[in-house]
Amino acid sequence: MSTFYITTPIYYVNAEPHLGHAYSTIVADVLNRFHLLRGEKTFFLTGTDEHGDKIVKAAEAAGESPADYVDRISAMFRRLWPKLNISHSHFIRTTDPAHKAVVQAILTRVKDRGDIYFSEYEGLYCYGCERFYTERELVDGKCPDHQTPPEVIREANYFFRMSRYQDWLRDHIERNPGFIRPERYRNEVLSFLKEPLEDLCISRPKSRLEWGIPLPFDDRFVTYVWFDALINYISALDYPDGEGFKTFWPAAQHIIAKDILKPHGIYWPCMLKSAGIEPYRHLNVHGYWIIDKGKMSKSLGNVVKPLDMVDRYGLDAFRYFLMREMVFGLDSDFSEEGFIARVNADLANDLGNLVSRSATMVNKFFDGRYPDTQGPTLPIDDTLKAHALGLVGRYTAYMLEPAFHKALMAVWEVINQVNKYIDETAPWVLAKSDRGRLGTVIAHILETLRIVSGLLWPFMPESAEKIQAQLGLPRSGRDLTLSDLEGWDKKGLFSAIRTGPALFPRIEARKQTPAAASKPAKKDEPLPEKPVISYEDFEKVDLRVGTILTAEAIPKSKKLLKLTVDAGGERTVVAGIKEHYSPEDLPGKQVLIVANLAPATLMGVESQGMILAASDENGLHILLPERPKKPGTRVK
Ligand code: MSP
Repeated sequence: MSTFYITTPIYYVNAEPHLGHAYSTIVADVLNRFHLLRGEKTFFLTGTDEHGDKIVKAAEAAGESPADYVDRISAMFRRLWPKLNISHSHFIRTTDPAHKAVVQAILTRVKDRGDIYFSEYEGLYCYGCERFYTERELVDGKCPDHQTPPEVIREANYFFRMSRYQDWLRDHIERNPGFIRPERYRNEVLSFLKEPLEDLCISRPKSRLEWGIPLPFDDRFVTYVWFDALINYISALDYPDGEGFKTFWPAAQHIIAKDILKPHGIYWPCMLKSAGIEPYRHLNVHGYWIIDKGKMSKSLGNVVKPLDMVDRYGLDAFRYFLMREMVFGLDSDFSEEGFIARVNADLANDLGNLVSRSATMVNKFFDGRYPDTQGPTLPIDDTLKAHALGLVGRYTAYMLEPAFHKALMAVWEVINQVNKYIDETAPWVLAKSDRGRLGTVIAHILETLRIVSGLLWPFMPESAEKIQAQLGLPRSGRDLTLSDLEGWDKKGLFSAIRTGPALFPRIEARKQTPAAASKPAKKDEPLPEKPVISYEDFEKVDLRVGTILTAEAIPKSKKLLKLTVDAGGERTVVAGIKEHYSPEDLPGKQVLIVANLAPATLMGVESQGMILAASDENGLHILLPERPKKPGTRVK
C-alpha cells in the first residue's frame, strides 16, 4: 500500500489562530483526504512551536509564565481544528518530552559527524525573526519582514556547518524538479544557493534565553528555535526506531507559506543530510492571504478569525472558498463580498440546485429509486458520460500538482454541464412521453453526481457525505474510494434516493436580490427543495400592503426601478421589475412588501424592503391584495 505523509507548519503560540493558519491546515487536510480516497495509508501532522524569544515576550506581555502561556494558546489551536473538520493523525508540541529527546539525539548525531563547531560571532540580529541577517539580506538597513533595524550582537555560539551541504542541495534540487514547488519558489531557493551559504548559528546562550531545549553537549546553551522546530516532522514519527518513521519517511510532503521558505528549503534538507536521513519528498509553498491590500496583523485590526467565518457562513462554504479562490503559490485577496459572491454562485446556485433538482426528480419520477428502465443513449448522454468519466483523471492530476483551484474548476465544469443537460433534456417533459429516455437521462445525472460528490469529499467532507447520504451511496474516504468513482452504470451502489434541505442556503446578508432577478422555473420542472422553517421563523417576516406613490428608472440599470411606497409610512424600495412595468403605470397600484428586510444598497440606492412578484414564462407580475387595503395592513 502506498503511504502519504503531510505536515503543516507548527504554528507559533504567540498569536491566536487566524485565517492564514486555517488555510495551511485545510490544504493539508484536503490532501490527506484526497490520498485516503486513493486508498493510501496516510499520516497527517500539525502542532505548535513553543520555544524561543518570541514566545517568552508574548508570555510576559500576557502576564503569564511561558509554560502556562504555551499551554493556553496551544489548546486554542488544538480545539479549533476539529471545528474545521481537520482530520489530523497527531498534534505535536515542541514542549513534548519525546520531541525534546529527538532534538537532542539529532544534535548529538550532527555533532558526531563533525558538523557542529563553537565560535565567537558578531552579527546583525533581528529579535522578531530570531535570526542573524547578513548585510545583503537587509532592505535599507532593516529587516525585510519587520522593517526594524537589526541589533549588533556579539556572542559565542554553536554553529551548524551548513555550507558543507550547499553543493549537494543545489544538485538535489536540480535533479528533482518537484522537490520545491511551485517552480517560482524552487527558483528562489536556487538563486539563493548561487551565493556562498553561511553556516547556521544553532544555539542561544541561556543568559539571554532559557526557554528552549538545552544542547546535549553544553547546557549553558539552548537550541535555536528553528533547529528545534523543524525536527518536529520526524520526532512526531518517533524517529529513529518508531513504526511511524519506518512507514512514512521519506514519503513526506510539507505545506508552508513563502515566509518560511528558507528554513524549509535550505536548513531542513541540510540538517537531514547531515544526520544521515533522506530528504523529504516535496515542499509545497503557498502565498499569503491579503486583507485590505496588506498582510493580516493584530495592530491593523484586520485579522480574520476562522470561526467567525464558519459561524456566519458554514464550514464547507469557508473551506470551499479558500481552496477555490487561492491559486496555490500566489497571494490572494480575502474579502467578505468576494466570499459571498462565490459561495452563492458556485455552491447555492450551481451545486446546491443541482443536487436538489436531481433528488426531487428521482423522487417524483422513480419513487426515489435508480431508474429500472433505460432507453438507448443519444450523443448528448455520451458527451456527459465521457466528460464525467474523464473528470477523475483530470482532477487527480491537478490534486497531485497541487493546483486545487484547477481541480475544483474541473469539477464545476461538469456540474455546469449536468445543469445544462437537465435543461436541455427536460426530464419533466420526458416524464409525460418517454419513460425509457427518462430513465437514461436520470441515470446519467445520478452517475455524474456520484463521481462529483466523491471528488468533493476532500474539500467539503460534510456536504459531500450529505449528498452521498441523499443518493443512498456509501461514504467516500471510508467505504467509497477513487476506483469506485471511475466506472459507470453503478446502479448497485445506490440505495434509496432522498430529497433533503438546501445544502447551501443563499447568503443574503449583504446583498438583496430583487424579485425579478431570480430565474423563472422551467415549465413543470419540480421546484428545488427549500429548507422547512418553523412557524416562529415564518412569523418573523413582516409582510404589509403598500401603495406605490412614485416610480422612476434607476439610470444605467436594466432591471431596477426605484419606488416610493406607503406601507403605513413612506419608504424607498428598489424592485427588479423594469423589464416588465413602465414607471408611469405604477403609482396608485398596491403591492405586498417584505417590510422588515435588512436594508441593502442596489446601484447606489438604499432599498428598505422588497416587493413580492411571481414570474413564469408569461412574464413577471407583482402580487396585490384582491381588494384595496389600507397602506400598512399586515398580511397573514
Ligand atoms: N513556527 C513557525 C513554523 C515552524 S515549522 C517547523 C512559524 N509559525 S507561524 O505561526 O508564524 O506560522 C506561519 C505559517 O502560517 C505560514 O507559513 C503559513 O502557513 C501560515 N500563515 C500565516 N499567515 C498567513 C497568511 N496571511 N496567508 C497564508 N498563510 C499564512 O512560522
